[in-house]
Amino acid sequence: MSDASIKIVLNNVSKHFGKVRALDAVDIAFAPGTLTTLLGPSGCGKTTLLRLVSGLEPVSSGEIWFGDENVTNLSATRRDVGMVFQSYALFPHMTVEQNVGYGLRILRTKPDDISKRVQEVLEMVAMDGFQRRYPDELSGGQQQRVAVARAMVLRPKVLLFDEPLSNIDSKLRRSMRDDIRRLQQASGITSIYVTHDQAEALAVSDEIIIMRNGSIEQQGPPQALYHRPRTTFVANFIGESNVVDAELTGEGTHRQIVFGDARVDVTAGMPIADRKGPIKLSLRPEVLEIRPFENTSSSPMLHGVIVQRAYMGPVIEYTIKTRIGALFTRGPASASQFKESDEISIHIQPENIIIIPENSKA
Ligand SMILES: Nc1ncnc2c1ncn2[C@@H]1O[C@H](COP(=O)(O)OP(=O)(O)OP(=O)(O)O)[C@@H](O)[C@H]1O
Ligand SMILES: [Mg+2]
Repeated sequence: MSDASIKIVLNNVSKHFGKVRALDAVDIAFAPGTLTTLLGPSGCGKTTLLRLVSGLEPVSSGEIWFGDENVTNLSATRRDVGMVFQSYALFPHMTVEQNVGYGLRILRTKPDDISKRVQEVLEMVAMDGFQRRYPDELSGGQQQRVAVARAMVLRPKVLLFDEPLSNIDSKLRRSMRDDIRRLQQASGITSIYVTHDQAEALAVSDEIIIMRNGSIEQQGPPQALYHRPRTTFVANFIGESNVVDAELTGEGTHRQIVFGDARVDVTAGMPIADRKGPIKLSLRPEVLEIRPFENTSSSPMLHGVIVQRAYMGPVIEYTIKTRIGALFTRGPASASQFKESDEISIHIQPENIIIIPENSKA
């Protein structure tokens, strides 16, 4: 974060296209200097949200604030926002240098200053030496870096990225996403980043917002969303998850969570307070430990049969049929291996059980 970093706030913002509610009464705050990722299924309103923040699209109702300035009615050109799109939208007839300097020329910046700032930002994105090339003489990853440079050279208050890496192959994507993160942190520009790729979201973000049908399902740091999903939707969207039904039984100090053959004592700190009856749990694949069948009811343990096994190099993936449904997990390929139709036991450390506080909103 730098002194110039600003907070972005959306107050009760809605956007309707005819009958389509692309955004529905959304309240969000983006902390100064942070990178927040919007994650959610196609059509949930991610691009719409970016377009409202940029000013390319007016809100139907509500307010948008940059720091202490209400920008709701400001045009895009007066909001001081840089954007990087999935299609890099470089000017094909301009060189790298001309593309990056374009915005500064429009602002009538002095030619000497333009050269200096273009040079600086090309060095930042590791594109020094490509000044005279045209976009069609660059790889996709290089074009994307030029697009990032073109947005950053204007030193905007806000940077918006709409799936900037989706046209880039997976190896390069990893290094590009690290570059974007590094540049964002160095500049301290408050940034909003849209992606479909949850691994990318976990890797680059200070905060993640899970969107669904034009609303915010949950906002928080990556770890909080991963370890404390508030809804089934979030548990399934971030990481892999086995969501299973469970039952809360007993009274007072003898309460237990029962799922299939497994029983777990309720301990202080579990977010189930005074609830009773059916609840939902999320069991991440990495917390299920498969062991050869043990005929005891020592808890917490489930029993099941391996119905599918897939060799994936370092790990083996298993689908296990249990009384509470099919569970997905993986085990190291080096450890003892199990075959299809083996009967097995599954151990779970109680502290790894995630209780989903609310069932997913319908
Ligand atoms: N100009 C428009 N006119 C009418 N409907 C629109 C318009 N732009 C977006 N929509 C609708 O608003 C909803 C949200 O669209 P948006 O582009 O924000 O989704 P998204 O989350 O970015 O999806 P994707 O992941 O596919 O890019 C969708 O139902 C879409 O069809
Ligand atoms: Mg979109």
